[in-house]
Amino acid sequence: MVPGTNELPVSPSPISISPLTVICQTVEELRQQLQQFREQNRRIGFVPTMGALHAGHLSLTARALSECDVVVCSIFVNPSQFNDPADFANYPVMQDQDLRLLQQAGCQLAFVPSVSEIYPNGYTPIDLDFAGLDTGMEGASRPGHFQGMATVVKRLFDIVEPDIAYFGEKDFQQLAIVRHMVRSLGLNIHIEGCPTLREADGLAMSSRNLLMSPELRKAAAAIPEALRQAGERIPHLSPAAVRELVIRFIEKDPRLQVQYFSLVDPHTLREVENWEGHSVVQGCIAVLTEGPRLIDNMCYSVKYTQLHP
Ligand code: PAJ
Repeated sequence: MVPGTNELPVSPSPISISPLTVICQTVEELRQQLQQFREQNRRIGFVPTMGALHAGHLSLTARALSECDVVVCSIFVNPSQFNDPADFANYPVMQDQDLRLLQQAGCQLAFVPSVSEIYPNGYTPIDLDFAGLDTGMEGASRPGHFQGMATVVKRLFDIVEPDIAYFGEKDFQQLAIVRHMVRSLGLNIHIEGCPTLREADGLAMSSRNLLMSPELRKAAAAIPEALRQAGERIPHLSPAAVRELVIRFIEKDPRLQVQYFSLVDPHTLREVENWEGHSVVQGCIAVLTEGPRLIDNMCYSVKYTQLHP
């Protein structure tokens, strides 16, 4: 940051043609910046993140910039959604680079609050029934995670008051829970789900990919490949057989251990026991590695015509 101001110095990169990104560290600063846009009835887009930005995050800001007059991107590593202290301690932080990327992207406002700005009275978890959307998969593996996530997202929504908020399908269960929260609290915010961006070998982009050795990173490509192969077997094999196939394929590598692979109804997130009555199922996976824990998912359409020609 330029000392004494809340503006970034002009990036040395020749591709930076965007105007300055204004950086707000407090709720008050952000509200002041947003006031002018609200008075002019401008459409406010919001992209919440935990930083260590990659092209997946930037696809969300690009989408927001194409649909809104002003875009706020928040960077806040939310302690309350980390059930594992080591995961929190190891989470990559690279704020200067993140702010440069946001400036290059043309994002007008970056919100980089401290923990006390977000939780001025300490952490009080949101009291909301998630209709069972939070019990399986990530919810079962990471106790308290979704409550922490929903608490911070609600707090950020209250601060930013966006018209549209953008979330990635990469975190499929998170997206379902945010949509549910907005519906059940009657919030006047439109939630946009955005497709998962992948590396050339298919691995879903993730800030945690930075925590892998080059060898492990190469091996992790088995995850999207297994998800792809599952699609070729649906609906010829039963859900149980598809699950087994995916787990066996990935665990051929001893460094990868499947924590869960669930084939679920994309609306209820309930596990699918057979294909009947389902036109679309979502395959959601979490894999433990010797480095980070990785999640991914894929959408499958169930084409009965192949079963009953
Ligand atoms: P974070 O993991 O930083 O992700 C921020 C947003 O980027 C989420 O909506 C996520 O789904 C999306 N995203 C991540 N990887 C992506 C990819 N490869 N392609 C497309 N979108 C991707 O998710 C969180 O932070 C936090 O839980 C948060 C919502 C900020 C609350 O703390």
